[in-house]
Amino acid sequence: MQVFGPPKTRSTSGIDFDKYDAIPVQVSGENSTDVKPIVRFSEAKLVDSLFDNLRRCGYDRPTPVQKYSIPIVLSGRDLMACAQTGSGKTCAFMVPCLESLLRSGPPQQNSRGRQKPAPCGLCLAPTRELRPQPSWL
Ligand SMILES: Nc1ncnc2c1ncn2[C@@H]1O[C@H](COP(=O)(O)OP(=O)(O)OP(=O)(O)O)[C@@H](O)[C@H]1O
Ligand SMILES: [Mg+2]
Repeated sequence: MQVFGPPKTRSTSGIDFDKYDAIPVQVSGENSTDVKPIVRFSEAKLVDSLFDNLRRCGYDRPTPVQKYSIPIVLSGRDLMACAQTGSGKTCAFMVPCLESLLRSGPPQQNSRGRQKPAPCGLCLAPTRELRPQPSWL
């Protein structure tokens, strides 16, 4: 599945990743030290389609919030994340969410071979101002 066309060489979002690497991240919660942050998206062992589409978006490496959010959610934990505007929270939440959905596959078929329609994920739009932001959802 190719969603975003040819790979970008660099994101146009204006994120300075060399400065971002120095940003401290605080993690709290029961046994929170058990979850090790990723440094590269490849370490998250994402399904090929998701990994390839991140590359096509020009996402070469994760932002600080993504380094933590992806392994935290994929380890089955709940996550509340707070990071500055423009720091990549959309991907921080959606990549592990999409990965979980892709790993679990479509809902089981019933005895007549039909899939029962059921919600698999829920994205809440918190405010009128933020709602239009994630253009890729
Ligand atoms: N790993 C990444 N590599 C390159 N670009 C990225 C990466 N993650 C996010 N971006 C880009 O950075 C920009 C900001 O991301 P995003 O809108 O998710 O930030 P945000 O933290 O949700 O901001 P806000 O608090 O304003 O909602 C977007 O253009 C997004 O495509
Ligand atoms: Mg956002």
